Amino acid sequence: MGFIIAVDGPAASGKGTVASRLAAAYGLPMLDTGLLYRAVGVRLLAIGGDLDDPSAAEASARGLDLSELEKPEVRTRAAGEAASRVAVHPGVRKTLFDLQRAFAEREPGAVIDGRDIGTVIAPDAHAKLYVTASPEVRADRRWKQLTGQGESVTFDEILADIHKRDARDGGRKDAPMTQAVDAILLDTSEMSIEQAFDAARRIVEDARARSGNLPG
Ligand code: C5P
Repeated sequence: MGFIIAVDGPAASGKGTVASRLAAAYGLPMLDTGLLYRAVGVRLLAIGGDLDDPSAAEASARGLDLSELEKPEVRTRAAGEAASRVAVHPGVRKTLFDLQRAFAEREPGAVIDGRDIGTVIAPDAHAKLYVTASPEVRADRRWKQLTGQGESVTFDEILADIHKRDARDGGRKDAPMTQAVDAILLDTSEMSIEQAFDAARRIVEDARARSGNLPG
């Protein structure tokens, strides 16, 4: 198996940026698993389906086409909320498991970001990071991103979203968001993108030295 880097953490923690910078640095393919759940939610909303209905959500996951991850709708605030609602259903998670696992097992390895990568999808990952930041810092980053995309939303609404999403993602029964026991915590609250990337790279280099596996 290739070199697997698992990057977990809550919404807008900087994990996506850290993951894509690591992928570029090590020449590994990257999978943003949040997009899978977002696309499942978006395609269910598009047919007027109920996000809280387990079988409708599972059917939506089964019909997913990876080209749907490219749609701009999956990056909206509504898609983030829909994703976290469909993500509580075990049937949805099971359907998306095989796809994520297959990505992890490809040579020469992968960088995968999400909520349960180090715990469920790739417990065997060579390097595990849990990227976090304070709710206020995360809300500020997400607010800038969404208003930059043209969405009209206040900082306070986004902060409320972040708290709600943390509670739902961390409180669900199946694969809750949690730091794997062997993951290294990276708090990016006071870090620039460059500093977060440097710290992440040091964590991966330490893991690489321990495992003797050379990515890229
Ligand atoms: O990372 P992102 O904010 O795009 O994820 C959207 C939602 O998808 C999360 O709030 C979470 O409910 C769900 N998710 C998940 N497991 C993952 C990735 C995302 O449950 N591995």
